[in-house]
Amino acid sequence: MGPKNAERSGGGFARAADYRQEYAKSLRDPNSYWATRANELVTWYRKWDSVLCGDFLSDSISWFSGALLNASYNCLDRHIEKGDGEKTALIWQGEDESDTKIFTYRSLHKEVCRFANLLKKRGVGQGDCVTVYLPMIPEMVISVLACARIGAVHCVVFSGFSATSLAKRIVDCNAHLLITADAAFRAGRVIPMKANADEAFDEAPSLNACIVVRRTGKEVSMKPGRDFFWHEEISADDITDYCSPAKMQADTPLYVLYTSGATGDPKGVVHRTGGYLLYAMHSCQWVFDLKKNDIFWCTADCGWITGHTYMIYGPLGLGGTVLMYEGIPLYPGPGRFWEIVEKYKVSIFYTAPAVIRALMRYGPEPISQHDISSLRLLGSVGEPINPDVWRWYHKYVGSGSLPIVDTWWQTEAGGVMIAPLPSMYLEKPGSAAQPLPGIDAAILDWHGQEAPADESGQLVIRHPWPGMLKNLFGKADSVRKEYCSRFPGVFNTGDRARRDADGDFWIVGRTDDAVNVCGNRLDTVEIESALLRHPAVLEAAVVGMPHPDKGEVVYAYVTIREGCSKSSQLLEDLRRHVRGEVGPVASPHVIQYAAALPKTRSGKIIRRILRQIASDDLGDFGDLTTLADPSVIPDLIEGKRVEVE
Ligand code: PRX
Repeated sequence: MGPKNAERSGGGFARAADYRQEYAKSLRDPNSYWATRANELVTWYRKWDSVLCGDFLSDSISWFSGALLNASYNCLDRHIEKGDGEKTALIWQGEDESDTKIFTYRSLHKEVCRFANLLKKRGVGQGDCVTVYLPMIPEMVISVLACARIGAVHCVVFSGFSATSLAKRIVDCNAHLLITADAAFRAGRVIPMKANADEAFDEAPSLNACIVVRRTGKEVSMKPGRDFFWHEEISADDITDYCSPAKMQADTPLYVLYTSGATGDPKGVVHRTGGYLLYAMHSCQWVFDLKKNDIFWCTADCGWITGHTYMIYGPLGLGGTVLMYEGIPLYPGPGRFWEIVEKYKVSIFYTAPAVIRALMRYGPEPISQHDISSLRLLGSVGEPINPDVWRWYHKYVGSGSLPIVDTWWQTEAGGVMIAPLPSMYLEKPGSAAQPLPGIDAAILDWHGQEAPADESGQLVIRHPWPGMLKNLFGKADSVRKEYCSRFPGVFNTGDRARRDADGDFWIVGRTDDAVNVCGNRLDTVEIESALLRHPAVLEAAVVGMPHPDKGEVVYAYVTIREGCSKSSQLLEDLRRHVRGEVGPVASPHVIQYAAALPKTRSGKIIRRILRQIASDDLGDFGDLTTLADPSVIPDLIEGKRVEVE
């Protein structure tokens, strides 16, 4: 246990025993538990008639029905009313060092109100969808909170998405208005955005206006009567500094956020106003132990759920200070993140293993050149964190003593569900530890029985929680149909995991990442982790390849470290290594050297593409708009041809 941690009272709970007591209480009587939390954390205009209606067998579930609230009021006004108007709410750092903006709660409130008034002027009403297609600039936070203020439903689309992906999402949620920028700065380049918006407009008849932030000054075409510049509109005489918050029903949608489904089609996850906001704050308080003077930096883009919950609703709901950075980790150099930590005295740093792996390539020197002693808590999210990566993060970023909260959750969850709470910091690299109070997580075997300790199975949630998705956009009964059909009455997360004898959870990965070799269901993540433990391997991705005798065989793509040479000796070494670490059945049938792997812009490996290449299924790779660098595909296909010949 880290010494700093031992002195702290994490999440308000100093000891593991307090957590256990709270957890037991939350499961014994969930309704009264959530009612208490809802009273503690959220300001309501009207309280609920019932906390929870329905269960996982019902066509729909509602939270806090009858209650009225406004999410933007909760994130802004009430802190000002309490005397925190001059407290910093948002620190924004542009890619360019001199480009910064600081918003107090009062100044952010004013910007949000003015923009909310502008949305109304442009005809946006309660329940209307607004698509937000912006880079990481303050207007992102302002747009989101302005929508929440007037009861419009925001739908943020990641700024790296193409015109086609943008259009698909606009059409699916029938958006009325689009907010975009002329272009975005990315690693010193200017990436057009309005041009994509123009293309999307042609395919999206529901759109009737576009508000354009001038970020880079890039020349853009503006269609009269349809396109408006933010800076011109916002300073009009009829735009006032106050907009009264709409009193929203707790169970009405706050936002839609698209995530990828197993089929590659985007699914619009709908989160509700009351339950989501409560869960964002509840989890932020528990997991990050947010304190008055913390500077919280969640490096995720607001285009993903992590940015929604831990850059906007969670910390601002709790009255905290958040940092938002426009750029990427390695530009202009590998020390950029640590420079920012030093500059703003960041105390909580929350990032993804992919980011840590990218930084690891440069070794600890870029870190040691900066004073990062303001950090007190580290977080990880998005994929299992390999123990070696965890140790590096702990040793060099956490100076060997800071707790790391390895937070497991998903878009559908609204907020973190399983994490080692800082007060219960466990030296178990790679374990997401324990569920948060209110989360009834369990591991089931294929027959739906609870799996014994140390046996992996399906990770399920047995009781509804307030942060859960309301439904998939346009499909009222989708929770039951899409998530609760495998084991009726429980929510199937789609992940495999195991629980050790202490009850700590170890996430293995998505179920769709499994390979079945001769009837043995193998976890590809486990094989990847084994490969990553080999000193020559920098990155690895494992998929199944159809095989006439064995059903499937293991196909591994590996990127090797600089200075290591590709040789048949190394291939043999790697096979021996996997056999030793996982077992002979897991020995890769094919190992392909890959210069780069297909990844999303947020760094996730897209295994679907690798599976297709391994299976020679090269006809249609589906929607490739999430892919950071499409040129990796022909290289991988060529690599496969050479490998197999
Ligand atoms: O497989 C789990 C993995 O990411 C999936 C959810 O992805 P998404 O909806 O994009 O949300 C990402 C941000 C919450 C999960 O089903 N995942 C997420 N966090 C972890 C994780 N796997 C292991 N450990 C984690 N901490």
